[in-house]
Amino acid sequence: MSRFYITTAIDYANGDPHLGHAYEKVGADVIARWRRLRGDQVWFLIGMDEHGQKVAQTAADRGLSPQALTDLVAERFQAMWRILGISHDQFIRTTAEAHKKGVQELIELIFQRNPDDFYEKSYAGNYCVGCESFKAEAEIVDGKCVLHPTRTLEWVEERNWFFRLSRYQQFLEKLFADRPDFLGPESRRNEILGLLKEGLEDISASRSRFSWGVPFPRPTSDGEQQSTYVWFDALPNYWTGTRVPGVGSAWPAQLHVVGKDITRFHCVIWPAMLESAGLQLPEKVWAHGFIYLGGERFSKSAGVKLELSEAIERFGPDPFRFYLIREVPWETDGNFSWERFAELYNAELANGLGNLASRVLAMVEKYREGVVPSGTLATLEDAGDRAVEQYAARMDGLDLKGGIEAALGLVSEANLAIQHAAPWALAKDPAKGGELDQVLGGLCRALVRLALMFSPVMPVKAQELWTALGQAGEVSKTPWSRAAAPEVAGSRVTKPEGLFPRPEPGVKS
Ligand code: MSP
Repeated sequence: MSRFYITTAIDYANGDPHLGHAYEKVGADVIARWRRLRGDQVWFLIGMDEHGQKVAQTAADRGLSPQALTDLVAERFQAMWRILGISHDQFIRTTAEAHKKGVQELIELIFQRNPDDFYEKSYAGNYCVGCESFKAEAEIVDGKCVLHPTRTLEWVEERNWFFRLSRYQQFLEKLFADRPDFLGPESRRNEILGLLKEGLEDISASRSRFSWGVPFPRPTSDGEQQSTYVWFDALPNYWTGTRVPGVGSAWPAQLHVVGKDITRFHCVIWPAMLESAGLQLPEKVWAHGFIYLGGERFSKSAGVKLELSEAIERFGPDPFRFYLIREVPWETDGNFSWERFAELYNAELANGLGNLASRVLAMVEKYREGVVPSGTLATLEDAGDRAVEQYAARMDGLDLKGGIEAALGLVSEANLAIQHAAPWALAKDPAKGGELDQVLGGLCRALVRLALMFSPVMPVKAQELWTALGQAGEVSKTPWSRAAAPEVAGSRVTKPEGLFPRPEPGVKS
């Protein structure tokens, strides 16, 4: 059994969860659930990034203390993750004492191992509160940060603790040369290689004026107590989380899942910090693409918004999870639209998987008194073997959309097999009883495989199908080897309520 410690980015606690947050958490959840299914010992960490200027400003605007705001927001995020069925094992908040202490310990490790890696320096530059980072000239267009054009850049002049990132130039070059799999997808890797080519500059590790953060463990030479720069506080959560007593994770992480906009922090600054502190690097970083609304980047400030709760209420949490993973490739960008949601729901869930399950189970009830006959259908056995193999390879390779497509391929094959065999005709001829057993048995075997393959993305619906197939226990706790040997003969089926009810939810005008 391999250990699989998976993390996501921790979300800024300055507003409600949005589609982008949901996309990332669902994607990571699908990976975590898949890994559990294939027998890994998984630990899944998510959480909130609660310090920094952005959070403090929002709190001030809302007349709340930063802690009161983050308590409120953290509760709203957790409520959303419950609705969406995110199966995290741990939820970290950067305002927790254990985390703050851990950050200070990490900084102390750096001071002890490489005392020169921190030094004091006066600095002036454009600070983007949206990114919580200083911006280079190339990242500024018309006086605004390219990622946050609705925010005003702040001109900041202060004397801070600096981290000698430039010292890790060669270390990082070697990391990317020696471990081509360290960062995926490939396109992101090229972006970081480009950055390294330009040469790394040292970065500020503390903020002077700003106090909503973890106290930097050492005062400056003039005795000022500064707070740790928010990224120096946030990145270590993946490590501090493992040090909480009783958790089942251990450093290093096998996979950090983050969005493409924060690749640089995870693939340049974080490895350098770890190396400087003498800690192991994570095995892999995956920087997924962005999901847009009608082709536009959305945010409160840009005025383009989708109420997550509306999308979930309209179609249900599982179809919403399905949509995100089926529609938006895990490595590139994608789009949300109601029209496309309805289209996929109808074609692939209601008419595809849902219709297949209800037809097969109804026929087993009608023609075999609800007991799955023993028998296999050669074409479906082959298609099933292929689908299961492809699915596993793609999921292991983090091609989540491809994994679902492999499962959907088996749905189509099974629906075709019904057309082809016309079981209703076979049922009329007593001499064809053996043939009918083969068809129904083969179809039920395909459904067993489908319940297993769909369980990471649609855990509730997959369980309904599993139970309807007369299978005991939880589909998600079933050994994956069952997908290769989907024995089901003799099980007593029941018809599910309608996995994906129709008429489909209306398309919003
Ligand atoms: N707090 C930092 C991360 C610190 S990790 C040590 C942060 N927070 S965030 O709330 O702005 O974003 C959280 C995650 O959501 C990031 O991985 C980000 O890339 C992702 N997304 C934000 N908008 C997104 C989309 N529109 N689409 C997909 N993911 C996006 O960054």
